[in-house]
Amino acid sequence: MSEERFEPLIVGFLCNWCSYRAADLAGTARIKYAPNVRIIRVMCSGRVDPTFVLKALARGADGVMIAGCHPGECHYLEQNYKTMRRYSMLRHMLGAMGLEPERVRLQWASAAEGVQLAAAIDEMVEQVRKLGPLNWPGIWSEDGGRLEAIEKLAEEHAEAMEVKA
Ligand code: FES
Repeated sequence: MSEERFEPLIVGFLCNWCSYRAADLAGTARIKYAPNVRIIRVMCSGRVDPTFVLKALARGADGVMIAGCHPGECHYLEQNYKTMRRYSMLRHMLGAMGLEPERVRLQWASAAEGVQLAAAIDEMVEQVRKLGPLNWPGIWSEDGGRLEAIEKLAEEHAEAMEVKA
């Protein structure tokens, strides 16, 4: 009897100026990384409201990666310091809700760090695989409903390409 390997679904909110370009670089340089990540491009990691993350998990993601420019290199000055504060709050909140905080990861990656970003994605996929399915909504089956919900999420976040003052 063969046991099917659990393939986690990860949503990655990637900053347009660095990590999204790093992912692009990884793609063009043919650096392989786990195909489990649905990338959503945002203008800045600071644009990722904690509700984006909770919504992704509630819609069927097993984990969420937020990736942005290294501290001190954010194109919107100090927005990624805000990301750091929100990240610790999110992890704390997930723990309080009985969820594993490791399901959310904050990753810094400059545009040149395709290799590092690919490694971080692989590492996160393995980590979430070990944690097992989140199945938070409890209603998603593997019939594609979960993927559709995540696709819809990406559409809804189109406005995250703008950075509010
Ligand atoms: Fe990349 Fe702000 S512009 S984290």
